Amino acid sequence: MNNKITYTTKEAAKILGISPSTIYRIEKRGLLSSIKTPGGQRRFTKESLDEYLNLSYNFAAPQNPSKFKEQKLNEIAEIYSVETDEKKDLFFECEKIRIYNSDILNISSISNDSIDLIVTSPPYNVDIQYNSHNDSMDYENYLGFTKKWLKRCFDLLKDDGRMCLNIPLDKNKGGQQSVCADITCLAKSLGFKYHSTVIWNEQNISRRTAWGSWLSARAPYVIAPVEAIVILYKKEWKKKSGSGISDIKKEEFVEWTNGVWTFCGESKKRIGHPAPYPVELPKRCIKLFSFVGDVILDPFVGSGSTLLACFNTNRIGIGIDIDKKYCELSKQRLLNEGGLKQFDFKIDNIYG
Ligand SMILES: C[S@@+](CC[C@H](N)C(=O)[O-])C[C@H]1O[C@@H](n2cnc3c(N)ncnc32)[C@H](O)[C@@H]1O
Repeated sequence: MNNKITYTTKEAAKILGISPSTIYRIEKRGLLSSIKTPGGQRRFTKESLDEYLNLSYNFAAPQNPSKFKEQKLNEIAEIYSVETDEKKDLFFECEKIRIYNSDILNISSISNDSIDLIVTSPPYNVDIQYNSHNDSMDYENYLGFTKKWLKRCFDLLKDDGRMCLNIPLDKNKGGQQSVCADITCLAKSLGFKYHSTVIWNEQNISRRTAWGSWLSARAPYVIAPVEAIVILYKKEWKKKSGSGISDIKKEEFVEWTNGVWTFCGESKKRIGHPAPYPVELPKRCIKLFSFVGDVILDPFVGSGSTLLACFNTNRIGIGIDIDKKYCELSKQRLLNEGGLKQFDFKIDNIYG
């Protein structure tokens, strides 16, 4: 908030991150006070907005709330819950970022045809110990699950929307599988169009121990220490919607349009998530394939790397994760690494 003394309803709605009609409703319930100009127009003071914000923050984790406060907070919750389905799974929201604690297969809070770019890394089905997801399905079930979320992503994208999918090239454990080729074919069968594939050289060449048949043609193993980023789009490759403003530098454009990217992977230990990708990956996808102000979705947001990249590049970021602990981790990373401030929050864990 700046130092302006009073705000119009529209400005107050923007500051609080709610609609003008919600402003009227919360005002009517006595949760927000306004003053009238001589011409009878409503104005809101900074103090009244601060007071309301404090009240709504406390809702997330009330510390010994008084009866009065509890009643007020319940009223706020009621107002939000009747307002719109949009808030249903909302875990966290600030001006440019939303995190939903939800299953991408069931989420109803995001409208179809509303997303400019999806950047994501889905579960690889390699027995990673996630909190809330079984990462060791049989391959057929894994492709069944993949088909379902790909369909959701397809529907959520605008007609000129794009998707950058970070997936493994193949699977070597428990039977060889052509994961990248299979997922690309599935996506195409659902209507996605193929654009290109970036090979990400993670530089994580660990000491090889599994060679299959050492120095023999009998059954050697071949392992590529790289991952793929498959670039797909919904209907048209040429972008028509959005601000038209690109923020990519000349050197970045030249380097990143060469489809072999070399940078290190991210440390699980440092991040506190079993499979994070480095922020560099979504940053490159976002700057190369979206305009400033575009809406970016990560349906498997994990530790929030995509949201950090959105925050740093002035895009609107929406993240979904089925696990509440990872939603909290994303939020904390935005606060600690992204420079997001508590006062930027709109609703914090209102349904947490
Ligand atoms: C590979 S990780 C994503 C990591 C992320 N790119 C990062 O940098 O932290 C996959 C994430 O998908 C989440 N997940 C699994 N199934 C899900 C589903 N059905 N809906 C939403 N999230 C899901 C897991 O909890 C996990 O955090």
